[in-house]
Parts: sequence; structure tokens; C-alpha cells
Amino acid sequence: MADTLTDTAAPAPALRPRTARPATEPGWSVEESASLYSIRNWGKGFFDVNAAGHVVVRPTRNPGVEVDLYEVVAGMRERGFRTPLLIHFSDLLRQRLVDIADAFRGAIHEHGYQGSYQGVFPIKVNQQRRVVEEVRDAGKSLGFGLEAGSKPELLAVMGMTSDTPDRLIICNGFKEERYIEFTALAKKLGRNVIPVIENVTELKLILRFYEQHGVRPAIGVRVNLASQGAGRWRHSSGLKAKFGLSMNEVLEVLSILRQRGMEDCLQLLHCHMGSQIHDIRQVNQGVNELARVYSQLAKAGAGMRYLDVGGGLGIDYDGSQTSFEFSMNYTLQEYASNVVYKIMTVCDEEGVAHPTIVSESGRAMVAQQSVLIFDVLGANRLDRYVAPARLPEPPAGETELPRPLVDIFDVYRTISERRLVENYNDLLEDRDEALRLFSVGLMSLEHRALVDSIFWAACARIRDIARSMSRPPEELGDLETALSDTYFCNLSIFQSLPDIWAINQLFPIAPIHRLGERPTRKATIADLTCDSDGKIDRFVDDHDVKKWVELHDFADGEEYLLGAFLVGAYQETLGDLHNLFGDTHVAHVKIDEQGEWWIDEIIEGDAVRDVLSYVHYDLSRLFGEIRRECEKAVVNKQMTVAESQALLKAYEAGLSGYTYLETEGSR
Ligand SMILES: Cc1ncc(COP(=O)(O)O)c(C=O)c1O
Repeated sequence: MADTLTDTAAPAPALRPRTARPATEPGWSVEESASLYSIRNWGKGFFDVNAAGHVVVRPTRNPGVEVDLYEVVAGMRERGFRTPLLIHFSDLLRQRLVDIADAFRGAIHEHGYQGSYQGVFPIKVNQQRRVVEEVRDAGKSLGFGLEAGSKPELLAVMGMTSDTPDRLIICNGFKEERYIEFTALAKKLGRNVIPVIENVTELKLILRFYEQHGVRPAIGVRVNLASQGAGRWRHSSGLKAKFGLSMNEVLEVLSILRQRGMEDCLQLLHCHMGSQIHDIRQVNQGVNELARVYSQLAKAGAGMRYLDVGGGLGIDYDGSQTSFEFSMNYTLQEYASNVVYKIMTVCDEEGVAHPTIVSESGRAMVAQQSVLIFDVLGANRLDRYVAPARLPEPPAGETELPRPLVDIFDVYRTISERRLVENYNDLLEDRDEALRLFSVGLMSLEHRALVDSIFWAACARIRDIARSMSRPPEELGDLETALSDTYFCNLSIFQSLPDIWAINQLFPIAPIHRLGERPTRKATIADLTCDSDGKIDRFVDDHDVKKWVELHDFADGEEYLLGAFLVGAYQETLGDLHNLFGDTHVAHVKIDEQGEWWIDEIIEGDAVRDVLSYVHYDLSRLFGEIRRECEKAVVNKQMTVAESQALLKAYEAGLSGYTYLETEGSR
């Protein structure tokens, strides 16, 4: 991020929608859009559609307090910031922390559990300063702590928690001397810091540095369970996991501590079963095993106080509430209830006091609070092709047209519902034959272009007939996908939604306006990068994953805005600079006491000069080169002095501009 621009204390002025379109259209309703995009399923009370056909965010789930996303974008434009734009909702983040704390407190009360609950936010899930501050502030009264997974993260956390020294700071990840020494120094400052041992060498360093600084450590161990999680991150646990101690090593840690009379220092048992756990059975199995280890350690004399179940609490990205990998077959309340109940049952059986339960549910805390808004720049529509009324005459000197051209035109003219599949197969065959003739030089470019037009026009006709049939032939299933439009959008998947590229992550995507109109197109999304992976071609569906999303038609130059939702976890820092597209602008939106929204903070996205300096360009050298070239061009009479000055000014302005496509008057 470049820098913070404004901290506007005043609410944003009231904003009007910019389109002159009617909000609704006969034969279609915003209700149908809400259902088409499954908004209420994945929205979980936080997202809905208003009567104007705009997506709204209800940060506290209170239907009377909502933020119209289209109005936020308009408000940002009035302040000179254009899309792509990331919008954070501080109150939604706060609400999620309250939800998680309430779910655990409710379960503790319901089961008569004797211990308490403390949430911990692993800052790697979203290290943006503003997000961590929000968690820190909102988490203060809820008793939430922070987790660092590296030395830089610990240094950030140390500098942000001076006013709440009793807050839990859990340190995971591989630790070298400096990292461990900083945990000792934090302890010396009075912080409730617990380094979690990932391998036995770390214990030796802890003993050395804590002794050196004259403080007694509180230590955790990360254990490798036999129970393996499920889904993409299942290898985070299990016997061959990258992290954690074997049972032998855990006992070795306890034995080393006991020899020094320090067994009371072993206070926390930790395990991370994997992220986005989609099946509750995995949680039950893992927690059961973890609670057994905890109890045995407590009985063996360790000073056990905390049982840390790690992260993994899922997000229902597709709203299906199933065990699909981007969904979850349990609710937050079920998760909390199962964790509390399992730990209680095992501890009671073993005769061990109930521990403070810690969870590091990063994704579940922050995923929903961010929405990425981007604009559509143009579309490639394959069904725009029209076939000619008749074929042209053969070229001069030839008696007939190439056979595949004549045949494909014949197929086009005789398409019928009864022979639809046969027609489609004939089309494919004729087109292949045309391509073959072209590749050996026996077909002209004009004839090849004509074959293409007839082919796509025929495909569109077959698709339209299939759509009108009550039971369209299965063989034509791929036709919708083949004919789907490509909507080119002002964003970089690699920068803003890297998990789509890296792990095929499914995020809900929907227009943020025009939801009172029927979407008539089916499209995939392509980003600005020169990379064929920079695309979105998997979308949320009611009971499956769709290869396209329904979108509205739009005229060239007309505004059309899409949103990618639930993007607050992992995306911002995992994003990269592919093609030098940088961080987007970020708006932090808050609700005031009257229930009105306002823009609390704008963090300006990267300018071109920022991204160039990240990859070590010397900007004054670049500018100097261009200046020299301009002077030479003036001497050689290629341009006037005035023209050279204008070029230099444009170059300088380009360096200060947004890395994404810009329009006049925008930043
Ligand atoms: C040790 C540890 N704790 C917590 C988390 C957060 O997991 P999640 O975001 O799935 O809750 C992770 C993520 O990988 C982790 O490695």
C-alpha cells in the first residue's frame, strides 16, 4: 500500500445512484437475482439486495442498518478513487468476533463447562495494519489475542498490544534465535506471550534466552495428531505433517522441563488441523485426540492451562452448507458446541480440570468483511456472429467453393430440433475439415473467416433451440460453456484474488447493481494480465459449480460493476505483482451511532512508481533516459520542444497514476 490519505471524521454526503435505468424490469425481480446468485445463502444475513437492485451489506445483520455497495463506489469516485476497489466493513469484522465469542460462551454455558474461551487472530490471515487494529480493538472486551507465525509478525504484534499486556500472544512457526529472544523480551515487558514449540531445538533456545533475560517462560507445544483433517489442507495435521512434535518429542520436552523443575512452564497444547475444514467429523476426531494428549500431560505434572484447537473453522463460500470443500456442513454454533463438549467429556473421563479453550479461527473472523469491486471493460460475445443469407460466388478462376464451407452452410440452413445432436456433430466435423484445408494452404483467409462465422452462428442457433426444450440433449451440455461470453474486467486475479489461480478457490461473484433486471448473458471473467490463468471460470451454483455466471448485457463504455465477496482472508498479502498491477485502493466503511455509513479511512492503492520501485527500478534514471531521448528527438526535428515537454509531463503523470485502467479525473 502506498500511504494513508484521509481520516475523514465526517459522514460521507448522501449519494445518488448514477444510472438512469429503471430499478426493476417486468418479468424479473430482485428476489430472483438474490436467488440466482445465492446471495442469501452465502450472505448469512450480512449481504442482501435492496429494492433499487443493488447489493447491500448489513454489517451487524440488522436489516435497518445497511450499506449500498453501489453508493460506496459512487462515493469513492466523487473523491477521485475508481475501481478496482476493496471495501472493508469494520462493523462486520467486529460482529464476527462477537459471533465467535458468543458461540463459545453459549456452548460453555449450555454444557456446564468449567473453563473459558479465548479467541486468537492469526495475523497471517490478513496482516493489513488496519485489519489487525480492528481485531485488536474489537477483541479487547471479548478477550481476543493475536497469533504471530513469524518474527516480523511478532514485532508487529508487540508494537500493537502495549495497552493490553494480559492479552494472549501465541507464537507459532519456525523460530530462530532472534524470534525466540523477542518472545522473551515481550515476556519481560509483561506480555502474556506463549512460544509454541514446533521442534525440540526451539526449547533449548527458549531456555537459554529466557534465563538470559531473567524471565520464566510460558511454553506451548504443537503436536502432530494421527487424526488427519480433510480437504485441501489436510496435510497440516497427520503423522507426516510439516509442523509439530511427535508424541515422543512432546514427552521429551516435558522431561527436559522436569529435569529443570520447570514442568509448570508447559501450559499450552496446540494443533492446527488444516484450514477450511468442511466436515465436522474431522473436528470431532482431532479435538478428541488433542484433549487426550492434553489430559495425559496435565496428569504427568505439566502446568497445562490452555488447549488451542488452531484454525480451520470454515466459511460457506457457496452457501450450500454441505461438505463440499468450499462449504461446510456445520454451523459456527455446532463447531463451538462440539469443541467444548469433546474437550469436557475427555477431561472429565481423565479427571483433569477443564482448560481455557483457544481457537485461531482466522478465516472465519475476517473473510466476510471485505468485498472487491471491479468494473467490466468489454466483452467478447461468440454468439455475435451472423451467417450470410447465401454463400459468395467462387473466386475468379475457380469453379466451386471449398467443400467444408458449402457443407457447414448446409448444416446451418437445415438445423432442426429433431436432429439437433447430429447437426452439432456435423458442424464440428465440417469445421475441423475447414481448419485442415486452411493449414495446408487449400483455403483462403476469407473462406476460413466465413466458416468461423457460420460455425458460431449455427452453434448459437442450436443452443437457443436446446434452451427452449424441456429436456435438452445431454450431448449439448458443453455448448453453453463453449458459447459463454468473456467479460474483460479491470482487475488482476493474481493481485486481488490469488487463491482463484493458486487453489481453484470459489468466491461468490455477482453484479452489485442492475439486480432488478434479468441477466441475459452467460460469461466467464478475464482479468487485465497477459496470462491465460488470469481468469474466473468457476462460479457458485445452487447445487454444483457453474462454468459461467449470468451477467447483464451492457453497451460499450457503459458502467457495469461486479463484486467478489468473502475475500477478506488470505488474499491481500498473498497477492503478487504479476504484470505490475499493484494493490487496489481500500475503503474502510463504518456505521455511526445513527446507523449511517461513512468512509472512515481510504488507503490509496499502489501508483505505477510504487510498483516499479518494488522491483528496483530507479525512477529518476528512467525519467532521465526519457528526457535525454526527447532532447535528441528535438535536435533531430522529430518533435518540437513543446511536444517533448508534453511527453515528459505525460510520462511523469503515468508514473504517479493507478496501475489499473484509469479514466479522466480519477486517481
Ligand atoms: C497455526 C495456524 N493457526 C491458525 C491458522 C488459521 O487457519 P484458518 O484461517 O483456517 O482458521 C493457520 C492457517 O493456516 C495456521 O497455520
